[in-house]
Amino acid sequence: MKPINVGLLGIGTVGGGTFTVLKRNAEEITRRAGRPIRITAVADKNLELARKVTGGDVRLTDDAFAVVADPEIDIVVELIGGYGVAKELVLKAIENGKHVVTANKALLAVHGNEIFAAAQKKGVMVAFEAAVAGGIPIIKALREGLTANRIEWIAGIINGTTNFILSEMRDKGLPFAEVLKEAQALGYAEADPTFDIEGVDAAHKATIMSAIAFGIPMQFDKAYVEGISKLDAMDITYAEQLGYRIKLLGIARRREQGVELRVHPTLIPAKRLIANVEGAMNAVLVQGDAVGATLYYGKGAGAEPTASAVIADLVDVTRLHTSDPEHRVPHLAFQPDQVRDVPVLPIEDVVTSYYLRMHVEDKPGVLADITRILADSSISIEALLQKEAAEGESHTDIIMLTHQTTERNANAAIASIEALPVVQGKVVKLRMESL
Ligand code: HSE
Repeated sequence: MKPINVGLLGIGTVGGGTFTVLKRNAEEITRRAGRPIRITAVADKNLELARKVTGGDVRLTDDAFAVVADPEIDIVVELIGGYGVAKELVLKAIENGKHVVTANKALLAVHGNEIFAAAQKKGVMVAFEAAVAGGIPIIKALREGLTANRIEWIAGIINGTTNFILSEMRDKGLPFAEVLKEAQALGYAEADPTFDIEGVDAAHKATIMSAIAFGIPMQFDKAYVEGISKLDAMDITYAEQLGYRIKLLGIARRREQGVELRVHPTLIPAKRLIANVEGAMNAVLVQGDAVGATLYYGKGAGAEPTASAVIADLVDVTRLHTSDPEHRVPHLAFQPDQVRDVPVLPIEDVVTSYYLRMHVEDKPGVLADITRILADSSISIEALLQKEAAEGESHTDIIMLTHQTTERNANAAIASIEALPVVQGKVVKLRMESL
């Protein structure tokens, strides 16, 4: 049967993996797709690298716009990343009537509404399994496998770099900066790791999941984003003593007044399966009203794991290529006219539990003063840990875990605690989820 022609934009790590896996598993992939999937053109600025990876038996160019304009190409795979030229290329490919497969979470989280509207108008598919959690088929699960459910919440470890750093900090008791260097040496973190460690990459992925889980537009600009760069190894140790692990979670939760969309270091009970996801691995926990909790685990990055997701999309697009656009799975899981403008709640309206660490004078009445403030704010204490003051020290640490309250209420209570003369410095606040 006539092959479907693919134009690959970017032959870096994931592009190379896609090329290799498509070639290695060509026979089985063809049996599944119903026709061969053939990469006919590759665009990359580094033509030498492209030649090396492809062996030269594919048309190579450094002009990606020529590929998206090529009438022979049926599907464009965008693996360039970022929202600059990648956006132009994706929109041009759509305009030219080509289907698009992309791993570009930043592009979809920020410009997805525009891109999906353009694709809808043109009747082409934009597939993006590789954009969230690499090789884990979480988009397929949310969009199709769980389609009977009202999804209540999603909590995911969706950035491998930060999970590796947190695992090492806990295992070896090392400070953040030291482990970051190790992650960079191992090639996990980008040379400029800001998007990873400041939670932006996880927020892109959480934004995409929130849209397909709740039938809302992409609202990345409303997401609350806090990374791990300010996390003190001491808090990982204290959390552990209280039976918790700290993970960078991407959380999307449906509430009556809107949706919570947030990324931040989070204490989770150590006995939860997801708390034991270590190293650079990813995992996503989804709570549906019918199915209950389901957990998806696997590699969130890397050449072949991400290629696995890219090729799954290529097979889907190949199967549906000739189908009536009206009868395809909607891009964002919900029919386009059923996407609702539900607001993302400001962080002050988020309801969660808290870990509070304060450095206090070690003298009678201090604990009473602090607990009185919490009681006056209707914040209930779940657990408390007081460290013995070190020899010759007049101050010590108190750690409290609270029950749920709004962030606004917690912040007001913390401000009152910080104003007590017996409390030294700032109160460290981390959020906590029981999952
Ligand atoms: N940089 C990401 C991570 C992988 O560390 O998980 C690509 O999304």
